[in-house]
Amino acid sequence: MSAWRIVPLPTHGPLFAGAIDVYSAAFALPPYSDPDRGDEVRERIVEIHQYREGFRAFCAVSDTGEVVGMTYGYRGAPGQWWHDAVAAALEPAAAERWLSDAYELVELAVHPVWQNRGIGTALIAALLEGVRQATCVLSTRSDSRAHRLYRRLGFQVLTEMRFAPGGAPFYVMGRPLPFDAVAAPQPGEEGRPAPV
Ligand SMILES: CC(C)(COP(=O)(O)OP(=O)(O)OC[C@H]1O[C@@H](n2cnc3c(N)ncnc32)[C@H](O)[C@@H]1OP(=O)(O)O)[C@@H](O)C(=O)NCCC(=O)NCCS
Repeated sequence: MSAWRIVPLPTHGPLFAGAIDVYSAAFALPPYSDPDRGDEVRERIVEIHQYREGFRAFCAVSDTGEVVGMTYGYRGAPGQWWHDAVAAALEPAAAERWLSDAYELVELAVHPVWQNRGIGTALIAALLEGVRQATCVLSTRSDSRAHRLYRRLGFQVLTEMRFAPGGAPFYVMGRPLPFDAVAAPQPGEEGRPAPV
């Protein structure tokens, strides 16, 4: 098994280009089947998301220097499209509990060849380590397998909703913080992340 490690992801340069390539490869497959989505995500990060409060991004890099996974997030706030759409879909008390002091896990992708080795889990653990918000929230398509990973890491389904009429259904999921890394891989094991 090849080794890999988790490192901070800059928003420019070769690591960033590699991360967008990984994102494109992961989302080119079903149920997404959207090979152009990487271009949209690159633009959103560069032009908008990197400037949001609490923006953090990490990537997984193989021992040959290839980017094999990526994630990023930021603190959610009223006025942001995703925050407002989810707030409108939740009961007011649930919206207050889960969104009033929330860190949003915005994107997560692992190259298809590198999936099922614990990289997605390690990326989430790196992203959420030390995050000071009360909750972490995200949305994931109900027909993808990603929700299994999130459930295993302590996320619960807050609601199921569509972000566009006729669009795919999504689970909105959340978990309290701090992230205690219940099932996060331990550094030093074969194929596991080295300490960063
Ligand atoms: C979702 C995604 C990021 C998960 O990445 P990953 O690196 O495969 O995640 P992990 O390896 O940590 O966990 C995946 C499974 O592998 C298992 N696993 C982890 N380490 C393992 C190992 N060493 N050997 C065998 N299986 C392992 C986990 O138990 C987990 O099972 P589960 O999904 O039933 O909980 C990846 O599948 C992906 O990029 N999918 C397409 C894009 C996507 O859906 N992104 C999320 C959008 S919200």
